[in-house]
Amino acid sequence: MSLQAQLEALKADSLKKIQEALELNGLNEIRVNLLGKKGPITEVLRGMKDLTAEERPKIGSFANEIKSELQAAIEAKKAELEAAALSKALAAETLDITLPGKPISGGNSHILTQIMEEIEDIFVGMGYQIVEGYEVESDHYNFERMNLPKDHPARDMQDTFYISEDILVRTHTSPVQARTMEKHDFSKGALKMISPGKVFRRDTDDATHSHQFHQIEGLVVDKGITMADLKGTLQAVMQKMFGENRSIRLRPSYFPFTEPSVEVDVSCFKCGGAGCNVCKHTGWIEILGAGMVHPRVLEMSGIDSTVYTGFAFGLGPDRVAMLRYGVNDIRNFYLNDQRFLQQFKTKE
Ligand code: DAH
Repeated sequence: MSLQAQLEALKADSLKKIQEALELNGLNEIRVNLLGKKGPITEVLRGMKDLTAEERPKIGSFANEIKSELQAAIEAKKAELEAAALSKALAAETLDITLPGKPISGGNSHILTQIMEEIEDIFVGMGYQIVEGYEVESDHYNFERMNLPKDHPARDMQDTFYISEDILVRTHTSPVQARTMEKHDFSKGALKMISPGKVFRRDTDDATHSHQFHQIEGLVVDKGITMADLKGTLQAVMQKMFGENRSIRLRPSYFPFTEPSVEVDVSCFKCGGAGCNVCKHTGWIEILGAGMVHPRVLEMSGIDSTVYTGFAFGLGPDRVAMLRYGVNDIRNFYLNDQRFLQQFKTKE
């Protein structure tokens, strides 16, 4: 058989094999065998040495043609097998979208986050900005700038964890007052801010004390701010938080950073003032500390206290949550016990 005829036969046979391939692995084997160095085409071409110089290039290019044809046939078959494999896989993977799904249990905000966001919304609605302070503070901002110099006895009430002699974890959110006042530009309007966040004290933990808890600081400074502004503002906020029928009362108190200072009580949201277990039968619930910003605190932050006055307050969201939901141990908020936390789920 002439070389030409051998090559023709080889081509016909190979095309048939390619056509008959049933899967990609088999096809790949055919490719390696046919076109590889030890394949039948190379084998046939060995016989070229017996050809005349005229015939040799003809057979050579004929062999190359066959190679490309086989190559193309293999590629085409490969595409066909791949497409078939894909549609087979797709058919196998169809899912029944009419089956009921498995419910995914979603997370939700911690109850304290919910309370703080609720309070933030109330103040934002009244034109306050929300300022974030630092949980790690300097003695300077936490105490000195709040009118609590080094030897001040009121420091005893707020012992905390010291990182160094001058750096501590803040005992209250009040340092944010100083940080905000020293930056405020009064040509742009009054300073009205709240600052929610974590605070820390070296307290012995019990049902009403935790070494970590939360506060929301409030501060308003402008020309002509009076105690009436403080009372009206807090009255409006307490009504939004505890119901339209609430009233508040102020009792004299003491904080180093306010003068005068007051303790603010809200009429009991449960009994309306008649007396019950929530208000310990007094009709009133102690809810926050407040006062007129001490002139020295204003001055230390670069504000002229003969021109500007302000009021400030500090509110405890943990206490608000305890009162509202009858939680009798503050430590529940920090134990991450799902059985406790799940009770405050807002959405399914
Ligand atoms: N910083 C006070 C505390 O932690 C709370 C407080 C009271 C803040 C009166 C105030 C305020 O801004 O006016 O006990």
